[in-house]
Amino acid sequence: LPTVVTTIADLRAAVAAARAAGRVIGLVPTMGALHEGHAELVRAAARVSGFVVVSVFVNPTQFGPAEDFAKYPRTLDADRAICGAAGAHLVFAPPVEEVYPPGAVTFVEVPKLDASLCGPSRPGHFRGVCTVVLKLFNMALPDVAVFGQKDAQQARIIRQMVRDLNVPVDVRIEPTVREADGLAMSSRNRYLSPADRALASGIYRALRAVRDRALAGEWDVARLESALRADLVAIPGARIDYASIVDDDTLQPIARLDRPALAAVAVFLGTTRLIDNVTIP
Ligand code: PAJ
Repeated sequence: LPTVVTTIADLRAAVAAARAAGRVIGLVPTMGALHEGHAELVRAAARVSGFVVVSVFVNPTQFGPAEDFAKYPRTLDADRAICGAAGAHLVFAPPVEEVYPPGAVTFVEVPKLDASLCGPSRPGHFRGVCTVVLKLFNMALPDVAVFGQKDAQQARIIRQMVRDLNVPVDVRIEPTVREADGLAMSSRNRYLSPADRALASGIYRALRAVRDRALAGEWDVARLESALRADLVAIPGARIDYASIVDDDTLQPIARLDRPALAAVAVFLGTTRLIDNVTIP
C-alpha cells in the first residue's frame, strides 16, 4: 500500500527523495471517494512518471454554502487501496488546517472561462479549485499533473492558469471513464437512488445523440441545444441546470458549429447534480 502523509513537510521530503533518485514526479489531485475514473488518472500518471502522488483533499473553498462539503464521501482506506492497485507511491491526505492555515487571503481567479457552464451556478467554485490546485502544485512540486475530461471546464481553466502564471507543470487530460451503461463515473453517483441511477444513463445518451446530429450535418447550435434539452427533460424527474454547446477553447456560446465545440450539461436527479460532456470535433 502507498504511504499516507498528512503534512506538507512529509510530502516534500518524500518527493525530494524520489527526485534525488532521478524519478519524474506525477501528481493526481482528487477529493477522494475514488473510483475507476480516478484510477485511470493514476495509471496515466504512472506511465509518464516514476513517483506518483495522489492528493486526497475535500477542498472547502470550492464548495458553495448550500453544497455538499460536509456530506461529501470520505473513504480514505478504500482510496489508499485503489491508489496502490493503480500504481501510486504516496497519498497526501492533509487536514484542512494544513492547507488553509488561519489568515490566508490570496486566491487565484481565471476570469471569462468561469463565466459559462458551471460558473454561474457555482459562484466561487473555480476560484477555489484554482487556488487549491496551485497550492497542491507548490506543495508537491510535480513535473506532471493529470486531470480528467469529465470536468472539462475545470481542465480548461487549470490549463489557462498554468499558462498564464508560468507554472512549470506538464498538465495532461485523460478521457472520461464511464459505467457500462454510459454514465460518467463520479464520486457523487453513490448519492443516487437506485431508480435515479438507472435513469442517469440518459444523460450520456442525450449527449451522444446531439453529437450524432452534429456529425450528420446539423450545424445550427440553437436547434442542437433544443434537441439536447428535449432529450434531457424526457428523463423522468430530471431538472436541467444547463445544457450548452460552446466553443471548446473559449467555452463561450457559438451560433454555428464552425469550430471544435463542447456539448456540456449539468442535470439534477433528485438532489444530486451530475455533469457530463462530449466534444464535437
Ligand atoms: P474529483 O472530483 O475527485 O476529481 C479528481 C480528478 O478526477 C479530476 O481531474 C476529475 O476530472 C477526474 N475524474 C473524475 N471523474 C472522472 C471520470 N469519470 N473519468 C475521468 N476522470 C475523472 O476534480 C476534483 O476532484 C477537484 O476539483 C480537484 C481538482 C481535486 C481540486 O480540489
